Amino acid sequence: MSDKPLHHQETALVHAGRSKRYTQGSVNSVIQRASSLVFDTVEAKKHATRNRAKGELFYGRRGTLTHFSLQEAMCELEGGAGCALFPCGAAAVANTILAFVEQGDHVLMTNTAYEPSQDFCTKILARLGVTTGWFDPLIGAEIASRVQPNTRVVFLESPGSITMEVHDVPAIVSAVRSVAPEAIIIIDNTWAAGVLFKALDFGIDISIQAATKYLIGHSDGMIGTAVANARCWDRLRENAYLMGQMVDADTAYMTSRGLRTLGVRLRQHHESSIKIAEWLAQHPQVERVNHPALPGSRGHEFWKRDFTGSSGLFSFVLKKRLNDAELAAYLDNFTLFSMAYSWGGFESLILPNQPEQLAAIRPEGKVDFDGTLIRLHVGLENVDDLIQDLSAGFERIV
Ligand SMILES: Cc1ncc(COP(=O)(O)O)c(C=O)c1O
Repeated sequence: MSDKPLHHQETALVHAGRSKRYTQGSVNSVIQRASSLVFDTVEAKKHATRNRAKGELFYGRRGTLTHFSLQEAMCELEGGAGCALFPCGAAAVANTILAFVEQGDHVLMTNTAYEPSQDFCTKILARLGVTTGWFDPLIGAEIASRVQPNTRVVFLESPGSITMEVHDVPAIVSAVRSVAPEAIIIIDNTWAAGVLFKALDFGIDISIQAATKYLIGHSDGMIGTAVANARCWDRLRENAYLMGQMVDADTAYMTSRGLRTLGVRLRQHHESSIKIAEWLAQHPQVERVNHPALPGSRGHEFWKRDFTGSSGLFSFVLKKRLNDAELAAYLDNFTLFSMAYSWGGFESLILPNQPEQLAAIRPEGKVDFDGTLIRLHVGLENVDDLIQDLSAGFERIV
């Protein structure tokens, strides 16, 4: 458990990581671009070497004041002992898992994990003699039966990629701990931006974010973060360092800047995405809406119990499977929703998934719907304008 924060979250987001050491008289942290960091004396060099893992300026790959400011902010916000920075979210996932496994080990991963996270296990870890097993995101306490004597890492992602199932994290954590107290429990916490679900307070060891999404928040940079508890921090930090994982000072700065507006951005994503999800749920052409905040969405009760809000990403399934011509008519003509990968920026995005495409990236090779699935990222535009854009889309596929 982390210490209870002194301030409300919005206040913490504005102030975290802004001590005088980092701001040096300005409002924001300085951008310290450096590979070499100069020591004035032999004693200063010795001191820096001794404390190189404890926030002393040593060498660019260990970080500069700009990185330390962001790392401190992330620890305050997510309640961790340390935060490793990576060049993107995928690097954060791969390197964090890699830090804790060796030949002969077993990883247990949710079968709704982001596709490259799965592929890292099946394509890279498999080559190193590490096997992977899968579990249904709604498995809850039943996960104990999937844990093997050699299970070293349990990897969660909540809500799940594309289909948005929310885990019963307390049940999963307590079941894993009861049979494998040494296993490292990691979560991809990107959807909650690390703040709408306080993973470490729920007994998870490491909370990963593709900070590319909500922390950067403007679709103009890539970065990954992994906030670890005290038991995992030293190992994660040294492994990330030896794998050469770092991010440039400018991107670290952009991430810290993103934090300052994250609270208000998330409030708007929450309000607009729920309004659109409720509107879609009533729409005659829609079979199902997968939005954690909507009753009936899988794991909604866990979202309601464990999360403090919603971000802007969710999906819905159309009653019909669109053919190629219909898909083009539908997707090529939105005026506000752009078609693009990624999410978490200020803008609205849309992406299609045919059932067989999604089945191909699920370990069990199937999905339980027949219509075309549409994933939306609801941005910060006026919500009525977005509904109008979506409404016109439905008219193109009647
Ligand atoms: C849930 C999730 N995790 C991780 C990533 C990877 O992040 P990045 O694109 O920064 O490598 C993504 C990217 O879309 C994602 O959606």
